[in-house]
Amino acid sequence: MSTPTLEKDPAGAPQDGGATAIEKITVTLRIRRYNPEVNPEPEWVDYQVETDPKERVLDVLHRVKWEQDGTLTFRRSCAHGICGSDAMRINGRNRLACKTLIKDVNPAKPITVEAIKGLPLLKDLVVDMEPFFQSYRDVMPFLITTGNEPTRERLQSSEDRERFDDTTKCILCAACTSSCPVFWTDGQYFGPAAIVNAHRFIFDSRDEGGEQRLEILNEKEGVWRCRTTFNCSEACPRGIEVTKAIQEVKRALITRRF
Ligand code: SF4
Ligand code: FES
Repeated sequence: MSTPTLEKDPAGAPQDGGATAIEKITVTLRIRRYNPEVNPEPEWVDYQVETDPKERVLDVLHRVKWEQDGTLTFRRSCAHGICGSDAMRINGRNRLACKTLIKDVNPAKPITVEAIKGLPLLKDLVVDMEPFFQSYRDVMPFLITTGNEPTRERLQSSEDRERFDDTTKCILCAACTSSCPVFWTDGQYFGPAAIVNAHRFIFDSRDEGGEQRLEILNEKEGVWRCRTTFNCSEACPRGIEVTKAIQEVKRALITRRF
């Protein structure tokens, strides 16, 4: 494998004194490829790509796919940190490829890119997300109310809204759940993302399904499996305090106050 090289792009030099120079570097993207129709085992493959260090890992992945190997498979949609579809392990850490700059992942060395862990690997960087979404559905991530429909909107104080503000930010990327060692060893565990989304409704003053959700999370594969390793909080690209949310659900289960 050749060593990554740093070089100035002559074409990127300032023109008529106005534009900023664009620095071009050549990076090695080391991608864990997997195609069960060709090889039953995943293998690491290196790609040399010229890029601007301020580009994102997603841009470089696109360049590999469009210019070197069209069979490279990965998910992405919005490219702006909103859809949650491009969570992957970059240099051994779960991140969104569209929110990770090349300059922040030590481009002087090969940048490793692989699928998130703990979910069945389908092809290259794509995993089967169904077990993840099943846990999400299991905690009933929607407003539950009883009685007649109100004739006006359901009001809530800003203090009450604040209680679950953090967990409304989840984009269901699975970076937290797939960084959790308990989830790796026991795929039955609901996982941090499902608990975050249960939290979002348990602590909503307008919702009446809190007790039901707490009972679901009180089960064997529920919230008590959490070992408070904080991997989830570190992995979350939205900065959600995932471990804190899990602790709040545990406390609500003990006190039944929420
Ligand atoms: S809590 Fe954060 S890491 Fe987990 S699924 Fe939601 S956005 Fe992704
Ligand atoms: S592509 Fe949508 S979050 Fe990255």
